[in-house]
Amino acid sequence: MKHKILFICLGNICRSPAAEGIMQHLVDSHGLSANFLIDSAGIGSWHVGQLPDSRMRRHGLRHGYDFSSRARQFTTDDFSRFDLIVTMDEENYDTITARARTADEERKVVRMASYLSRRQASSIPDPYYGGDQGFEHVITLLEDACQGLLDSIMHPRKEV
Ligand code: 4NP
Repeated sequence: MKHKILFICLGNICRSPAAEGIMQHLVDSHGLSANFLIDSAGIGSWHVGQLPDSRMRRHGLRHGYDFSSRARQFTTDDFSRFDLIVTMDEENYDTITARARTADEERKVVRMASYLSRRQASSIPDPYYGGDQGFEHVITLLEDACQGLLDSIMHPRKEV
């Protein structure tokens, strides 16, 4: 059975396509590509069809990632298409959980920051209106959280 993961941010041109690219790279490097379906989507429709922001792509390339997915908007169909819907910040989390129609759908929505190895941030901050440092910071956080997410799937802890 495939693990189907959808990353969510506001515009789907900075954080969530980077999370998608980093997670795909991680899964590929572990030889697990066949076990995963990884995608990303935005809450807004402003950038639908666009490649990721050129700054996000440039910083990604510096770290060996090619972020090249096209932006699309989240729809409620995504609740049935994915097992896990991973939001970048609290606003994204609130927006997506508010669209859940059942308790099962709501349970699929999680926070990316919850997979960070240390309590280094409470969210993946929006880099759109900032400078280079913000984009680098996003990549650092996402690399750490993607590893935590992969570990949580491959070595799930039993609930007590
Ligand atoms: P993202 O960043 O949510 O990480 O893709 C943003 C991209 C675009 C906008 C806001 C945030 N915007 O307002 O257009």
